Amino acid sequence: PLVSMTEMLNKAFEGKYAVGQFNINNLEWTQAILRAAEDEKSPVILGVSEGAAKYMGGFTTVVKMTEGLMHDYNITVPVAIHLDHGSSFDKCKAAIDAGFTSVMIDGSHHPIEENIEMTKQVVEYAHAKGASVEAEVGTVGGEEDGVVGGVQYADLDECVRVVKEAKVDALAAALGSVHGEYQGEPKLGFKEMEEIAEATKTPLVLHGGSGIPEHQIKKAIELGHSKINVNTECQQEWTRAVREKLNTDSKVYDPRKVIGPGVEAIYNVVTGKMREFGSSNQA
Ligand code: G3H
Ligand code: ZN
Repeated sequence: PLVSMTEMLNKAFEGKYAVGQFNINNLEWTQAILRAAEDEKSPVILGVSEGAAKYMGGFTTVVKMTEGLMHDYNITVPVAIHLDHGSSFDKCKAAIDAGFTSVMIDGSHHPIEENIEMTKQVVEYAHAKGASVEAEVGTVGGEEDGVVGGVQYADLDECVRVVKEAKVDALAAALGSVHGEYQGEPKLGFKEMEEIAEATKTPLVLHGGSGIPEHQIKKAIELGHSKINVNTECQQEWTRAVREKLNTDSKVYDPRKVIGPGVEAIYNVVTGKMREFGSSNQA
């Protein structure tokens, strides 16, 4: 069923595993992720950036497409449709009004008072509609949908304020992770992570989940991360598989055959992550 993130993340927090957020771009992406979740008996979060929503047609298209697939595929595991890096109250409201069950309000590019204010406003609206809310403190590095930024560690007091004052369901506390590819081994701030987890007692969210070695993922989960976002790895694997198909089959022109290997590649990435994050067989 389509649900908010609240229950799935609280369960993951208690059980010391993480639910994956996998970003979608189109029909096939959504198919692959839903199939993987059902086969793995895992809860799943479909991440939709504002850019991806626009690309697909709009928030309503995303919701109707997902609902249609869940019906036709007989999906029984919990699925959340989540606005990734929502930029304003209005965007979050529009997503919820269209049927999104969860939103992230990314106020991290604003001063903390403004961040808390906009997050509060979103929480009030979202909770009244049964939707969950994720906030961000500090900044995730790298580039996503054209937004480029440097790494800035989340401040402990600011994290506590966002959780207590805005009453969010999940907190993305940026601690060295980056969107896109890592230059060398990722360096996550585990000491700060422990302090923030201890002080907030709220499910934490790890952005930039692609390319982080398994031992660091395990440690982040151990220290309170209940949601891990993966986008780049699916994109890279999709492209690798489609490129290989085109390079090795000069006669192919049926679009379903061109992108078919890409869809299977996403299915495999998602399945692997669900096992690594420990969410398999938790639905
Ligand atoms: O919000 C989405 C993510 O943080 C994805 O990051 O593309 O580096 O996996 P990634
Ligand atoms: Zn992100």
